Amino acid sequence: MMKYVFVLVLLMVGGAASVQGILLVYRWNHNMTVTQRIMPGEMSFAMAPGSLPREGGQLYYSKEQREAASARKNPVPPTPESIKTGERLYVVYCTPCHGPSGKGDGLVATKFVPPADLSNAGLQKARTDGYWQSYLSVGGAVMPSYAEALSPVERWHVVNYLRTLAQK
Ligand code: HEC
Repeated sequence: MMKYVFVLVLLMVGGAASVQGILLVYRWNHNMTVTQRIMPGEMSFAMAPGSLPREGGQLYYSKEQREAASARKNPVPPTPESIKTGERLYVVYCTPCHGPSGKGDGLVATKFVPPADLSNAGLQKARTDGYWQSYLSVGGAVMPSYAEALSPVERWHVVNYLRTLAQK
């Protein structure tokens, strides 16, 4: 009698081991092909705000950090080349609202919120280069950000050009 019980237990243990073994082999063969994975180009991930390119860039200052951004020194000297580059970019991106002279008489401004007169001597004095560059970087109340259209250095060129608009 005990002999049959022993054989039965042996069969049960053996059966359980075989099932485990088959499961192991099955998972070994299939695990890597059924995991969640992302194929190249299948998805694009937005960079977190403040991410910097590996080859350098500019620290991110949000609108709330404008005070710190204003304290930055302009790293781009206002050479004739810089001002010329700034003018070229200003004509493309800024004249629709700010107008060719910076007075805020662009075509869009007549239908949109009239912007400040950038040639105003008082405003020119009150604002640092850093403040204006940060304005181009993150935008204003209604003015859009130019962080995607203009590189950080191009934004400094534009600021250098804005300085030449000042009323004497
Ligand atoms: C869609 C219209 C629009 C465009 C385009 C635009 N701006 Fe503005 N900008 C405004 C408005 C409106 C204001 C007033 C503040 C606000 O509401 O954002 C302003 C404010 C500013 C100020 C801040 C003035 C201050 O208070 O010190 C600067 C500097 C400026 N713009 C520069 C630029 C430059 C440079 C460009 C081009 C790269 C540009 N803007 C493009 C609409 C525009």
